[in-house]
Amino acid sequence: NCGCTNNMNFRTRYSDIIEEIPDQQRDFERFVPAEGDEDASLFIIGEAPGATEVERGRPFVGRGGNILVDALNAAGVTRRSVYITNLVKVRPEDNRDPYRAEIDAWTPLLHAEIQTVSPDVILTLGRIPMNEMIETDARISDIHGERFDEGRYCVLPTFHPAATLYDRSRLDPFRKDITEAVRW
Ligand code: URA
Repeated sequence: NCGCTNNMNFRTRYSDIIEEIPDQQRDFERFVPAEGDEDASLFIIGEAPGATEVERGRPFVGRGGNILVDALNAAGVTRRSVYITNLVKVRPEDNRDPYRAEIDAWTPLLHAEIQTVSPDVILTLGRIPMNEMIETDARISDIHGERFDEGRYCVLPTFHPAATLYDRSRLDPFRKDITEAVRW
């Protein structure tokens, strides 16, 4: 499955918003749509797709994705029963952090997705989506797993799954946070 069917469905669904995004931020060769259940109560936000995701046209299907999906499965849910998206839908070259302009360009689409899905819990993976969803100066290691009430939903920040590859001590807390987000 190349993910192209889902890609075109997603792009059609949000065409009004995507059309407003500046051309230089809209490289569809590096674009990866969201995936999952639009009625999900759990909405998961990554940073931006990586090379594997672009190749396969699906979010979180590389090494980080396997860690995420294993943790979801261990918590008792499948990846199809949650909603998985990225803050920035186009892969930044060389795996750099997304620029402010890229985040700003893609944020209206994220907000539209949140409106569509209307989740109870938004799980942010890593520092960058966390900082877009809650106002905090805290480090992720100090506030991961806490719930931030944002009115219509709560935000629960955790580590980026790839961070558990660099620092194994983060894997247990990561899995615990996922369980917390699923159970809530
Ligand atoms: N990392 C992310 O943040 N998003 C993906 O889709 C894959 C890896």
